[in-house]
Amino acid sequence: MAAPTKEIVITGIKPTGKVHVGNYIGAIKPALELARTPMGKTAQEMEHVLKSGQVQEGGRTVLFFIADYHGLILIQDAREFRELSYRIAATWLALGLDPSKVVFYRQSDVPEIFELTWILSCLTPKGLMNRAHAYKAIVERNEQAGVDPDAGVNMGLYTYPILMAADILLFQSDLVPVGKDQAQHVEIARDLAEAFNRQYGETFNLPRHLMGETTAVIPGLDGRKMSKSYGNTIPLFEPEEELSKLIARIKTDSTLPNEPKDPDNSSVFLLYKEFAEVERTRAFREKLLQGIGWGEAKRELFQVMNEFLAEPRRKYRELLADPAELDRILAEGARKARELAAPTLSKVRERIGRR
Ligand code: ADP
Ligand code: TRP
Repeated sequence: MAAPTKEIVITGIKPTGKVHVGNYIGAIKPALELARTPMGKTAQEMEHVLKSGQVQEGGRTVLFFIADYHGLILIQDAREFRELSYRIAATWLALGLDPSKVVFYRQSDVPEIFELTWILSCLTPKGLMNRAHAYKAIVERNEQAGVDPDAGVNMGLYTYPILMAADILLFQSDLVPVGKDQAQHVEIARDLAEAFNRQYGETFNLPRHLMGETTAVIPGLDGRKMSKSYGNTIPLFEPEEELSKLIARIKTDSTLPNEPKDPDNSSVFLLYKEFAEVERTRAFREKLLQGIGWGEAKRELFQVMNEFLAEPRRKYRELLADPAELDRILAEGARKARELAAPTLSKVRERIGRR
């Protein structure tokens, strides 16, 4: 079988708090890497690529978006909502996303997504949503607390996976780089694509999630999954002193200085290798095996992270100071996204008997 000549990659982040190292390693970094890696394609496609300017070199279209309407489920203060959305945009740009080579947009600027959400809702068994993990976790918590099982649940939260399926399916995506907690949502998107295809004939591509073996769950300061909801994160763009303090708080085992450390069971090493070059990582691994103390190891981790983050941090602040420029970039991205979405949405409408 010939290798696929075109591949669509998509990932989104909801603006609900400070972007952290887990988000970066689990979702942002892999997507940025895919956007930089070329893949084979035909001459004919190459021509299309060059003309449209939409498919970046390499025959891979990479879509990055701010999942702001997913964020609305939680953030219902207008100023905070706006501010957090800009921060996600600035984060991606600061980390090297080139908006001229990828499709970079705000979810709420693409109305096609919401039309598809409704259509998919009508094909979604309610029971499937009852089993979605975020909703299930809240119900379990409520039951334990002896309150109404649906206390604090709005319909946005309940139908969250359908909106996410629309995000993914509208662009005929192949790959979705996300952390492990989002894998179920990508599977739901796949289920809904299959359900639609079964009912109306082949329409949607079936997406897969893409997860790194060691990066699916990045541990936080306390060793649990790094997550905004646990308050155990290392935000990406903290000032230097703060970053250093946070790194010093990373939980380590009780091996003493001079005792060999196990790099493969250490959050410090796991983070180090995501920010350092191969050679430097190898040397650090050696030091751990030879028994460098945790304090010293954390100082080295701070060094590599800080070196890597210094320039993005500066750029992030600069970008945030110019929201009009961010709006301009995102408006251009939304235009591209809507153009890419249009053929699928009209096919869907035709399939359901709308036209
Ligand atoms: P949070 O759990 O902090 O609220 P989000 O749900 O906003 O994070 O996640 C945004 C993206 O980052 C998703 O793709 C998610 O899977 C990924 N992600 C979040 N936390 C981690 C983690 N600790 N390890 C790996 N990936 C993560
Ligand atoms: N649900 C994802 C999260 O919490 C964000 C998201 C929304 C997303 N739509 C998406 C991720 C589509 C990948 C593809 O992190």
